[in-house]
Amino acid sequence: MPEKKIFIFDTTLRDGEQVPGCKLNSREKIEIALQLEALGVDVLEAGFPISSPGDFQSVDEISRILRNATVCGLSRAVEKDIETAARALKHAKHPRIHTGIGTSDFHIKSKFNATREEILQRAIQAVKWAKSYVDDVEFYAEDAGRTDNDYLARVIEGVIAAGATVVNIPDTTGYCLPNQYGDKIAYLMNNVKNIDKAVISCHCHNDLGLATANSIAGIMNGARQIECTINGLGERAGNTSLEEVVMVIRQHKHLGFYTGIRTQELNPMSRLVSDTMRVPVQPNKAIVGANAFSHSSGIHQDGFLKDASTYEIINPDEVGADGSKIVLTARSGRSALAFRLHRLGYPYSRNDIDVLYERFLQIADNKKEVVEEDLHQMAKAYSGSTVNA
Ligand code: KIV
Ligand code: ZN
Repeated sequence: MPEKKIFIFDTTLRDGEQVPGCKLNSREKIEIALQLEALGVDVLEAGFPISSPGDFQSVDEISRILRNATVCGLSRAVEKDIETAARALKHAKHPRIHTGIGTSDFHIKSKFNATREEILQRAIQAVKWAKSYVDDVEFYAEDAGRTDNDYLARVIEGVIAAGATVVNIPDTTGYCLPNQYGDKIAYLMNNVKNIDKAVISCHCHNDLGLATANSIAGIMNGARQIECTINGLGERAGNTSLEEVVMVIRQHKHLGFYTGIRTQELNPMSRLVSDTMRVPVQPNKAIVGANAFSHSSGIHQDGFLKDASTYEIINPDEVGADGSKIVLTARSGRSALAFRLHRLGYPYSRNDIDVLYERFLQIADNKKEVVEEDLHQMAKAYSGSTVNA
């Protein structure tokens, strides 16, 4: 049994909901929150309470309902934000305030027109305010991916000394390469003298398609929490996808990590989020896409039918998917055709299949996919021709 738990922090209802057109009402948020808790997430970021009365209400209602997961509310490093987050979380069994500020020079100069020293003091002050309301305080160093490591280490040391229990190192712009992000976490592990007093969290965006790889690099270098969303939803190109990191950790047990996620719930969870937020899942999406367990080319189908592990590294049942599919297209071979016909109750011999295959190719060349109805028609025409012969 791997010994290190990776905490899964889900931000579908906060960063995920920042996707244009994905705004949810309180009832929809509660439905998703309950399902996320059943999925086994450790922390659920329910919203940004100061941002709107609706968000405040959702965080408040989710706080009253959840019993196992920690409920988290986002704030800026602003006293009013923090006080509002604390009020929204008042009824949570396990409340966490997530506060922070931009630490890269891009943020310090362009956004705040401030100095590094001033931002360090504001970060420490924000954690102190949050700590006066709750024990569990997470600090985010926005744009940590592009923050100078030496300065970042000073900020992280300061906020831990002020009481932060979790320190979030966001690659806000999705800029880092996996080795850069991993090195950043290793740098903090080696240069922040009180780092053992807090959990390091990875919060990666997917602008270059590297969010999952960067999060995994983060935990391989000492981080113990991953912030992620269902279906990888989130600002711009999205956040780290929950289903991907969970299955990477499960597939690569030799890394020595585990999560508390009930993986059989991943596909139902993905469907609920996709339907409620009205964002379709791309068919080739890892783990939860419609084609994640579909085999269409003849070579793959033949190998898969001999032994599923030839072309599948995950059993679809393990992630609650509908099952593996043998899709019939013009690229499919005889074994796939025989398999699908046998499954429909036509136990044709090899010789029959050789004849049927020619007809199959004619149909397949004119259609994107040969479906059950086509197979029944083929079988009917074939039995007619053999009876008349
Ligand atoms: O991407 C980011 O930096 C964020 C923070 C607010 C945590 O979402
Ligand atoms: Zn983010």
